[in-house]
Amino acid sequence: MRLSHILFSQGFGTRRECEHRVLAGTVHIGGRVCEDPDEEFTTEGLVFEVEGRPWPFHAKALVMLHKPAGYECSMKPRHHPSVMSLLPAPLRLRSGAGVQPVGRLDEDTTGLLLLTDDGALIHRLTSPKHHVPKVYEVTTRHAISQALVDALCSGVVLDDAPTPVRAQACERVSDHHLRMTLTEGKYHQVKRMVAAAGNRVDALHRSAIGELTLPEGLAPGQWCWAPHPWSPAVAR
Ligand code: URA
Repeated sequence: MRLSHILFSQGFGTRRECEHRVLAGTVHIGGRVCEDPDEEFTTEGLVFEVEGRPWPFHAKALVMLHKPAGYECSMKPRHHPSVMSLLPAPLRLRSGAGVQPVGRLDEDTTGLLLLTDDGALIHRLTSPKHHVPKVYEVTTRHAISQALVDALCSGVVLDDAPTPVRAQACERVSDHHLRMTLTEGKYHQVKRMVAAAGNRVDALHRSAIGELTLPEGLAPGQWCWAPHPWSPAVAR
């Protein structure tokens, strides 16, 4: 692929801006300055540097963000900044529409949020048909009883669904810490299920989606690349 097109596809500006970046000598590959926008490179495994910042080529982007509280997952936020503001410009400007959140977390929910520009992957991860498990760490207002765990596992009725919804797994970790695994993504699902079972969510954190776990060293507000493509074993 031509160097200026590589930069364009990875979100480093318009075609013209990318050409100028190369001509201006701001792009390095393998320790060598590359000043010819038409030079061809194999993209597999390619890492280029723009203004000293290394950037690995990804045909499709998939990133993990540690969402802090106080951010909305919407692209058009209403009351708080968007999670998109936590990402560097190239991820937002990749050719096509840039990355977008895979599903949503509430403004006050923290933890693992995936973002991608791969439409098929978004469908696979969010469609209830694929049953991708999402793990939530729930801090409850009242002490967790066995009856609460049983109710969440056997199913509770929510106001917008006639049939009970159940957690795929539910574990009492401590008096006020519940670990819940869901395979659907209904609106405020954890909070509404816990309320329907007679308790209340004081804090909510997502720790995993499928086989992807929030990396321990990833601080709130930070992002990193995720393995891609998604393991077929997870997204059956
Ligand atoms: N369930 C909720 O209630 N809120 C979230 O943010 C995610 C799941």
